[in-house]
Order: sequence, then structure tokens, then C-alpha cells
Amino acid sequence: MKTEFEPTILAFVCNWCTYTAADLAGTSRMVQQPNVRLVRMMCTGMVDPKYVIKALLSGADGVLISGCHPGDCHYMNGNYKARRRVRLLKEILPLFGIEEGRVKLTWVGASEGNEFAATVNNFINEIREIGPMEARSMAIV
Ligand code: FES
Repeated sequence: MKTEFEPTILAFVCNWCTYTAADLAGTSRMVQQPNVRLVRMMCTGMVDPKYVIKALLSGADGVLISGCHPGDCHYMNGNYKARRRVRLLKEILPLFGIEEGRVKLTWVGASEGNEFAATVNNFINEIREIGPMEARSMAIV
């Protein structure tokens, strides 16, 4: 009997927008797959690329970073910093044999519970397509 791969996703979400949207999705009983562990950050600008790499080498098959829409960051430009960091990280990951598709940055506003549920479900399916993270055995972090 073949069992389908169930990815583990770590999601760094900003307190002010995406965490609130996740809460809204939950209280509105929107259908979400149970593969995501949320890490509540004050802003996506706080997500150090080291956290992402450590997550991937420690058991996560994919990492989602999600925060306020451009122009809505509560700390002015944290999400722009996150966008620049993720762009660089996606260039570096393949050098270590890690598919860049394992990391995703999205913007989900506080009132967008539907969008949060859809984003999470889509990302889980994308990671299912990529397959299990195989670089764990070379964990050096
Ligand atoms: S406060 Fe939400 S991304 Fe900065």
C-alpha cells in the first residue's frame, strides 16, 4: 500500500497581517490541510535567512514566509527587506541542492482568511510535487 507524502511546512507569519488572517481562517472554519506549523513573528523583516535554512535542515519540507502587503508593513519597510532576502536565498539554495520552490514569500492581509487558506493549501500541494526534503542528512546547522 502506497502512502502519500505528507509534507511538513513551517510558516513564518507576521503578527499584524498574516497571523490575523490565519486566525480568521480558523475561526471561520475554512478548510485547511493540517501540515503547517505557524511561527508568529512581529514582521517578515525579522525572518533571518538562517531561520529558513535551519528549518529546512531540521525537518521542514517547505518554508512559507507571509506578511503584510507592500506598503502596509507596520514597521515601514520590513516586508521589502524580506522580499530582498528571499530573492537572494532562492539564488543560494540550489547551490546546496535545495530546490528554490521550497521557500515561498506571500502577502496576506488581516482580513484575507480565504487567501490564507488558499495560499497554504496551494503551497502544501507544491511541496508534495517537489517531494520530501533530502538534504537533512547533511545537516550542519
Ligand atoms: S508588520 Fe507585517 S510584514 Fe512587517
